[in-house]
Amino acid sequence: MPVNVRGRNFLKLLDYTPAEIRYLLDLAKEFKRMKRNGTPHRYLEGKNIVLLFEKTSTRTRCSFEVAGYDLGMNVTYLDPGSSQMGKKESIADTARVLGRMYDGIEYRGFDQNLVETLAKYAGVPVWNGLTDQFHPTQMLADLMTMEEKFGHLKGLHFTYMGDARNNMGNSLMIACAKMGIHFTACAPKELFPAENLIETAKCIAAESQGSVRMTEDVEEGTRDADVIYTDIWVSMGEPDEVWNSRIQLLKPYQVDTKVMENASSDAIFMHCLPSFHDTNTTIGADIAEKFGIPEMEVTDEVFESKQSVVFDEAENRMHTIKAVIYATLC
Ligand code: CP
Ligand code: NVA
Repeated sequence: MPVNVRGRNFLKLLDYTPAEIRYLLDLAKEFKRMKRNGTPHRYLEGKNIVLLFEKTSTRTRCSFEVAGYDLGMNVTYLDPGSSQMGKKESIADTARVLGRMYDGIEYRGFDQNLVETLAKYAGVPVWNGLTDQFHPTQMLADLMTMEEKFGHLKGLHFTYMGDARNNMGNSLMIACAKMGIHFTACAPKELFPAENLIETAKCIAAESQGSVRMTEDVEEGTRDADVIYTDIWVSMGEPDEVWNSRIQLLKPYQVDTKVMENASSDAIFMHCLPSFHDTNTTIGADIAEKFGIPEMEVTDEVFESKQSVVFDEAENRMHTIKAVIYATLC
């Protein structure tokens, strides 16, 4: 059956079939080729989109902006705190106002319910640029990057290390399950994804010939993995007070050379970024001073190694976001 996602929201990968995800990945590949060749692709000339950010961003914001301009669109950016949304105007009212002016709305914020409400009332496609629960545009970039490196997705062994019950852990588990990848969350029990989401992922994986497993054991969880993935230990919106307990919990799950050596010999290292791999950031320096650890979720050695594909992932954010905008608006 031909795939058509025109007019659809992009709120979480759970809402998309493997065939629809495949279509978006193929489209992104085509956009990457055009960008690299300098082939113009202003297919959405005259359309207008708005980017609403209630949390900070580098990659997601810039990807939406550049993708929008490359497609010939006009782009409005509203930074955290510069609109009425949430404070003086409800999400539902904001959605109905913006839906009258714009052809599409990107939203980065806190609870997933907020972006779902926005989508319910907007009347135009809404794209989730990250919530506390899911980060679906990041998933397309990650799948695209893995496919570029290995030539296929099905059957890969993927290990996520760290805070597995956050937006990245949840989303990667679903993305892998959808695409027939063997997913392992290697984390302390307290930070495993929610039980109901694990069950959902297992049902999806049963259909795609993938698998889903949880382990606290680093040696077992990373053995022969094709991909080792991690994320920051404390996410946007979490209070500073959790740093201490999170560091204690996650220190054993830091990605270092020992982890990479235990993985497959051609394993790659992935991270959505930003990353605390040295003390060249204010938070990194502050944590080093307070807790005596100069590197957190990944060592600088692994981050800077040949196995690290983190900047390919970052570039692919733009190509995949362009595919989502185009496919839902064209
Ligand atoms: N990976 C990611 O979403 O990065 P930003 O927070 O910079 O958008
Ligand atoms: N888990 C991180 C992802 C950043 C892209 C956060 O929410 O801050």
